[in-house]
Amino acid sequence: MKVGVFDSGIGGLTVVKSLLEHHLFAEIVYFGDTARVPYGIKDKTTIIRYAIEAVEFFKNFDLDLIIVACNTVSAHALDEMREVSSCPIIGVVEAGILATANALKDKNANILILGTKATINSKAYEIGLHAEGFYNLQAKATGLFVPMVEEEIYEGEVLEATFRHYFGTITAPDAIILGCTHFPLISEALQNHFSKKSVLIHSGNAIVEYLEKEFDFSKRYENPRLEFFASENPESLRNIAKKWLLL
Ligand code: DGL
Repeated sequence: MKVGVFDSGIGGLTVVKSLLEHHLFAEIVYFGDTARVPYGIKDKTTIIRYAIEAVEFFKNFDLDLIIVACNTVSAHALDEMREVSSCPIIGVVEAGILATANALKDKNANILILGTKATINSKAYEIGLHAEGFYNLQAKATGLFVPMVEEEIYEGEVLEATFRHYFGTITAPDAIILGCTHFPLISEALQNHFSKKSVLIHSGNAIVEYLEKEFDFSKRYENPRLEFFASENPESLRNIAKKWLLL
């Protein structure tokens, strides 16, 4: 299977990492819209327009599947993308909701949802989690983590000050949904902030769990073909991919 992975920038590489760890695809084509990141502060109409342009970009590659490795786009533009796509499209929000439901036995579990402003405003996670019977939810837009991760700030004082700014006196929830594909890069710091008491839900692992349930992956690929594209400065994206994915 040949898959396209789309994110507003470099965050979706955390999803590619999970795909590579599980050897699911023969070919992965990554597209990051680095010229227009962040999407999380934009309105729905703009996010839809950019997402449709990403589907157009992927039309040159004869893909079997597109994974939207961006929570912001998954929350706002999946239906519109599917309307213009000739291959199936799956998003990380639906997968994240199912992974959360699978990870938590107790329906009263306290879940903290983190994401960009656009993701949190969409209430996509709340709606999905309510349908799964979870109501003890808090949601917090933590968009500052996006440029910090883009700046490769994964620990230290600035990040800790940002945690204090966003979380104040919030005590460790049972689970934290990393509702933005940039956030796994700060998961260790987040775990430390909450004294390692919370289960973290990671979009990449969630999408693997979802894919393995929905598709037959009897064949595994040790050395998939990888291609990385970006709307601006593709060299920088390729360098980050090399570093993060240990290529
Ligand atoms: N990585 C994107 C997400 O998962 C967010 C980054 C952005 O704001 O563009 O939501």
